[in-house]
Amino acid sequence: MDLFSAPAPESARQRVAELTRLIDYYNHEYYMNDNSVVSDFEFDALLRELVDLERQYPELSLPTSPARRVGGEVNKSFRQVEHRFPMLSLGNTYSIEEIEDFESRTRKLLDGVPFSYTCELKYDGVAIGLTYKKGKLVQAVTRGNGTVGDDITSNARTIGTIPLQLRGDFPPDMEARGEVVYPFEAFEAMNRLREAEGEPPFANPRNAASGSLKLQDSSECAKRKLMFCLYFIMLPSGLEADNPAFASHAARMEAAKQMGFKVQPYMKECKDIRDIKAFIDYWDRERWNLPFGIDGVVIKVNQTSLWDQLGTTAKSPRWAIAYKFKAERVSTPLLDVSYQVGRTGIITPVANMQPVWLGGTTVKRATLNNADFMAKLDIHEGDSLLVEKGGEIIPKIVGVDLDKRLPNSKPLQYATVCPVCGTPLVRPDGEAGHYCPNQDGCTPQIIGHLEHFVSRKAMNIESLGTERLQLLFDSGLVHNVADLYDLTRPKLIGLGEGTSSTIQEKGAENIMNAIELSKQVPFERVLFALGIRYVGEVGAKKLARHFGNMDSLMAADIDQLAAVEDVGQVTAAALFDYFRQDAHRLIINRLRDAGLQMQMVQNIVGSALQGLTFVVSGVFQHFSRDQIKSSIEQNGGKVTGSLSGKTSYLLAGENMGPEKLKKAEKLGIPIISESDYEAMITTQS
Ligand code: IVH
Repeated sequence: MDLFSAPAPESARQRVAELTRLIDYYNHEYYMNDNSVVSDFEFDALLRELVDLERQYPELSLPTSPARRVGGEVNKSFRQVEHRFPMLSLGNTYSIEEIEDFESRTRKLLDGVPFSYTCELKYDGVAIGLTYKKGKLVQAVTRGNGTVGDDITSNARTIGTIPLQLRGDFPPDMEARGEVVYPFEAFEAMNRLREAEGEPPFANPRNAASGSLKLQDSSECAKRKLMFCLYFIMLPSGLEADNPAFASHAARMEAAKQMGFKVQPYMKECKDIRDIKAFIDYWDRERWNLPFGIDGVVIKVNQTSLWDQLGTTAKSPRWAIAYKFKAERVSTPLLDVSYQVGRTGIITPVANMQPVWLGGTTVKRATLNNADFMAKLDIHEGDSLLVEKGGEIIPKIVGVDLDKRLPNSKPLQYATVCPVCGTPLVRPDGEAGHYCPNQDGCTPQIIGHLEHFVSRKAMNIESLGTERLQLLFDSGLVHNVADLYDLTRPKLIGLGEGTSSTIQEKGAENIMNAIELSKQVPFERVLFALGIRYVGEVGAKKLARHFGNMDSLMAADIDQLAAVEDVGQVTAAALFDYFRQDAHRLIINRLRDAGLQMQMVQNIVGSALQGLTFVVSGVFQHFSRDQIKSSIEQNGGKVTGSLSGKTSYLLAGENMGPEKLKKAEKLGIPIISESDYEAMITTQS
């Protein structure tokens, strides 16, 4: 707890209770009943208000508060925790005969006792166990090796479908087990965003779910829109064994629903193997219409009192089994191979195939990865390829359909020159990929380079997306990053006439403003923006701090460069080579003349805000909350938590709490926007 914060007044206590109740109610309706009671805007405003109040009065912040769902806790590493009861896996099979064997064996073992089965979906995600004590979520642990897993509690709290506080009747001690999945829609949106920001996309929703649960910053995990699918309720005390609400798996799932868990509605009670087979057949066909991935069906004996009687083998219970769906596979003719050129010049071969229906979508293209992969497949001209789609959404080429190979067909040759600029391709020693080495003359590389330069983490020149950059390139105005600073409003207006990306007056103004603002971007980000091979965000920061300015960095030899923390020989050599090329020196000089930051700025960058006190609220476009606070301080201003007579400005982002707004208006405190703020620090300092 913050020792210096004032005790919470009764009014704050009451408001926190009221907000908690309201937000819990809206959350429950949204996640459990698919019912939006309030607009996103209103909801975010309430949540922001609660987050702000809890930040101001940490004593009011309970572990079950819905404010925890926005995250913010940082996990340096994940504590290893032993499971109270091992997380067993299930016996699994791809064969219907083995399901028949399981069914008849179970019937024999139970020797005339009446019982039934439940069939449910086998969610394709990451298994976790949630411990609830007195109805409160106290711990979330991944399956790990079944005995020991990682404590991911703060990330689990951000998942809307995991209740933080159980409702109604619940046992005093219980564990809920289930699978965290990444719904397809959210997964694809996240991957598009990653690609736009130059980060590698995740291969499939399962990997993405697993990666998300291991994010160090739980507020990042909160953005991932993961979902929890409950499949098992454990009652460690055994006290509830006689309670009919817990006497069968189906009843436990119903009880869990009343406690506030989202329980998937696809479970079915089955009396015999015919019912079981019908369930399997149905979901094998229908699985592609679900909003998340499944990789099979799980069959469980429904009556929990029979579980002990059936017992477990070393690894898995005898009262349940998983049937796994086979990946769907088709054969389709290869039409041709195209070669894509990436931002860094990397070449990716892509198979263009006769369109074919596979797992709910039409497939016509799939990656061939690299020359080694193609060599291993030994593709010949005119071949048909075998394409598979497993629990994933991306189809994979798994082989050549040799039955369809044409007589005397020749093996396919890998491209030797860049498909765009014709430069001979190179393959660096020890790397799997081919590259086009014509960095400064090959269009996709130039556009990719420009995209990187303007991206949010680099120069943050918003309103210059790929289409507009392509337009600027095609019109001959921009061939390299320095050309951006020669743009003027008249040159921009009317560009792309007749296309959907025509630049109008307002668009031109936005572009020019963003370019102007980019001149304030600190040196370390300018260095990152140059897109020098192997120099990422962190490396750029370390280099900038070490050398202090561009001239010293450019003058450094390889040993001096490699002496910087985290800069290896390869990066040092890449930097050295980069700065030895006249074309690059010319660009750097032009950027310097345009007014970009070419040296580190000491802690206080200006005194534009000297004597001013700010309260910051809401969400901003160009800054995180921490960044905006340190920016205020670096410009000589002060930041406080609550509005008072001493506040000079309320700096309001999006979705700011309505209470703050009202209070500021009452006290007559001027309310300024993010762009007003940016103007304050750029014009005066
Ligand atoms: S029941 C003791 N039900 O599949 C019974 N498991 O080896 C525990 N899974 O690691 C498992 N969907 O993570 C069960 N509806 C479902 C499931 C499910 C997915 C996972 C589970 C387990 C693996 C089976």
